[in-house]
Amino acid sequence: MSETQVHETKPEWKERAWIDAQTYEAWYRESVEDPDGFWGKHGKRIDWFKPYTKVKNTSFEGNVSIKWFEDGELNVSYNCLDRHLEKRGDQVAIIWEGDDPNEDRKITYRELHAEVCKLANVLKSRGVKKGDRVTIYMPMIPEAAAAMLACTRIGAIHSVVFGGFSPDSLAGRIIDCQSDFVITADQGLRGGRTIPLKENTDKAIEIAEQSGAKVRHVLVVRRTGGQVGWQDGRDLWYHEEMEKASAECEPEHMNAEDPLFILYTSGSTGKPKGVLHTTGGYLVYASMTHQYVFDYHDGDIYWCTADVGWVTGHSYIVYGPLANGAITLMFEGVPNYPDSSRFWQVVDKHQVNIFYTAPTAIRALMGAGDEFVTKTSRKSLRLLGSVGEPINPEAWEWYYRVVGEERCPIVDTWWQTETGGILITPLPGAIPLKAGSATKPFFGVKPEIVDNDGNPLEGPCSGNLCIIDSWPGQMRTVYGDHERFVQTYFSTYKGKYFTGDGCRRDEDGYYWITGRVDDVLNVSGHRMGTAEIESALVSHPKVSEAAVVGYPHEIKGQGIYCYVTLMAGVTPSEELKKELVAHVRKEIGPIAAPDKIQFAPGLPKTRSGKIMRRILRKIAEDDYTSLGDTSTLADPSVVNDLVENRQNRH
Ligand code: WT7
Repeated sequence: MSETQVHETKPEWKERAWIDAQTYEAWYRESVEDPDGFWGKHGKRIDWFKPYTKVKNTSFEGNVSIKWFEDGELNVSYNCLDRHLEKRGDQVAIIWEGDDPNEDRKITYRELHAEVCKLANVLKSRGVKKGDRVTIYMPMIPEAAAAMLACTRIGAIHSVVFGGFSPDSLAGRIIDCQSDFVITADQGLRGGRTIPLKENTDKAIEIAEQSGAKVRHVLVVRRTGGQVGWQDGRDLWYHEEMEKASAECEPEHMNAEDPLFILYTSGSTGKPKGVLHTTGGYLVYASMTHQYVFDYHDGDIYWCTADVGWVTGHSYIVYGPLANGAITLMFEGVPNYPDSSRFWQVVDKHQVNIFYTAPTAIRALMGAGDEFVTKTSRKSLRLLGSVGEPINPEAWEWYYRVVGEERCPIVDTWWQTETGGILITPLPGAIPLKAGSATKPFFGVKPEIVDNDGNPLEGPCSGNLCIIDSWPGQMRTVYGDHERFVQTYFSTYKGKYFTGDGCRRDEDGYYWITGRVDDVLNVSGHRMGTAEIESALVSHPKVSEAAVVGYPHEIKGQGIYCYVTLMAGVTPSEELKKELVAHVRKEIGPIAAPDKIQFAPGLPKTRSGKIMRRILRKIAEDDYTSLGDTSTLADPSVVNDLVENRQNRH
């Protein structure tokens, strides 16, 4: 796509940036030619109680083993808090902006340190030990960050579950990692509506305990003051426990490869996997990418709009920024409440310099009209970021022109829950931008595009995106199932980490992520497996079979299209469609609510019983004229019915 307009690096971006074009080239070369030397040097950006003598010890072959800085010892909360106290104890660490525009809070490093130490002592006093799993099911309030950091202080492994997930989903995650301690809030608040977090937790625990799980304690932050159920002995109020706790707590000395957190994410098959990240490599990588990609300088006000329930919130609201002594803004609300100006009002109110959000939000705000943007100042903005899904060039240009007034570079950052941090991205002072391209690999990242047989492709090409060597932020295993880790990521193309994404490389060596090539959907930047939604649908008594595919959706990127075969004798109706939508919401959460349901008497299957998703995708896209070869279908006539009853007609 040589006709794509290149946005050259502006002199003023170059001037203030940490990394210019020459430095990028030199560092990149060193990082891939001598990873031990490169990371040995940059690993020192964080503080170690015991310095490492070994740097990289990784293999993508056989049983797959990934170790970085393996004999070093450190503590994440120490790096995010204690080490800043001397120089910036009174500097703000977290700016909190509530759902209600009249509510905000500022917390300094010293205050956050005290909060985290107290909370760590609360956890200890209630029997939480190093290596234990603590589930965090919280709204976007500073206590969520404190909870994560308190776990790291004592070496407990946190598993943050997004507050939009249902009791069933929460239960599944509690069971999978055998977590016996949950931190939550009475209710969450988003867009003026409450979310019954404690009630959901109670239900989840009931479900989990039916499978033999045992939750000893639920620590509850009072957020709204709404009514909640209470189980004496088990349930504890956060504020009451904190009152009694000491603000002194020595940080646990953790090995670099000790587990830091588990984060569940969807794949193409089965239940969500517990992605496990460890301590040293993760923190080095999160902090280094945060500094260079967002070009963070002391005193900058930085805002990532993600939720701490996703990896973006872990790496780029909490760990990366705080390890760098940054001022990180945490937002409880949504982009369009009270109205579609909210983001830009918050930018003006807190004088935000760096702003990081998702394409789905950009597209929705673009649709609401420029007026909501242009009536605000946004003069403080210096850099814009995008993450979570491919950004279409129209949305990119709008973000660049209207929001950033052509003054701010856009970093389109490609990465995954599994990668721990950003892998492909522009560096604002070094890499000219192209709308819609994540551009070039970060230091130490070796992308390779392979054809379907795994042959590496050279030069401009298009195929499947692999990463052929390890970087420090990489996940180490699937919690409790290393075999699944090896199978999922290293067996499709032997000895290579397969991302699941399709990708094109252009003549300038720029990478363009084209979206998932497996059965994973990306709906409004939320990742989910078609298999999970299918299994939620078939758990309904009236459903006999279901197949779920994605289709292009103007705002969400992808929408959820479900083909449903009903049990014999059940009559299809609009009512039943609504019932099924509600059922999926209940089973997984509102983010998985189907956009379209088509009742299908039969699904297109091969003679061996495999559903031909290619055909279902085409019909969902309303591109049924080129269905390709259908002759291998057991019953080719089902296709006509599917086309006639398609839900996506123009
Ligand atoms: C999938 C990972 C990483 C934080 C949020 C999502 C897609 C992510 C981009 C981007 C194109 C992107 C990929 C990836 N994705 N960022 N800048 N351009 N696609 O994390 O939930 O683990 O999802 O999101 O398809 O595989 P996640």
